[in-house]
Amino acid sequence: MSNVYLNGQFMPLEEARVPVMDRGFIFGDGVYEVIPVYAHQPLGLERHLARLDRTCAGVRIKNPYTLLEWRDLLSRLIANEPAKDQSLYIHITRGVAPRDHAFPANVSPTVFAMAKPMPPVPAAWLTQGVKAITHADFRWLKCDLKTTALLANILLRQLAVDAGATECLLLRDGFLTEGAASNTLVVVDGLLLAPPRNHLLLPGITYDLVLELATEKGVPFAERPVSEAELRRASEVMMTSSTREIVPITLLDHVAVGCGQPGPVFKHLLALYQELKPS
Ligand code: PDD
Repeated sequence: MSNVYLNGQFMPLEEARVPVMDRGFIFGDGVYEVIPVYAHQPLGLERHLARLDRTCAGVRIKNPYTLLEWRDLLSRLIANEPAKDQSLYIHITRGVAPRDHAFPANVSPTVFAMAKPMPPVPAAWLTQGVKAITHADFRWLKCDLKTTALLANILLRQLAVDAGATECLLLRDGFLTEGAASNTLVVVDGLLLAPPRNHLLLPGITYDLVLELATEKGVPFAERPVSEAELRRASEVMMTSSTREIVPITLLDHVAVGCGQPGPVFKHLLALYQELKPS
């Protein structure tokens, strides 16, 4: 099954090889995207490709393909993967060069992409919610770029796993930024609050879609800083991401969120989100 693309060729995953001097391997010098696919159709493709373009510009890697070329390449990967619901992964590194921190001259980016089945979110997560912990956000100051250098995110998410939790919510200078691998939305005094899109968090496509749905359907919300105190007294906390959609967090640092059950705002938003999904 040719469900992988590497530097111009489609091939089975087992055949894909990258030289060890690739700067992605040596330095984590690369960018990526994750795009959800439902019934063999991508959701939010243009937005993901626009974010990829912004990230490439942000780290000064030339986006190797046009929008049309990306669409074509990705539709071939989607068609080659039998599962209806998939996640598409795109990964571009600065390329292969002798090890030196400074950008190499005349290097071509390494381009890798793959489609793989996307399992549904476990039903119990939606009916009971999941546990999360909090931690100081010790990442860098360009969290709006979707780069492959994810060591800080990895360490933070592992803290959650070590604590038997699903996500680690990050606090910087007394304010909520996002999760280690998701955005976070909270409900405080009946109002949906979304931490503002700036350099401290990834502008999530799911976050965007959810807030657009909220605007369209008249769910009141505010995009503004959320303090730690607000997070701790929120009646609802939820995480959003392309592969997990919207998941309620019902236990935060061993304390029940609201009444400890998925709340009405989460249920409303999840129902609206389901209607967006291609079928
Ligand atoms: N991660 N914030 C971070 C740090 C993330 O890693 C992600 C998603 C999000 C949500 O973004 P989106 O809604 O566009 O998926 C926010 C992906 C799924 C991953 O790394 O696998």
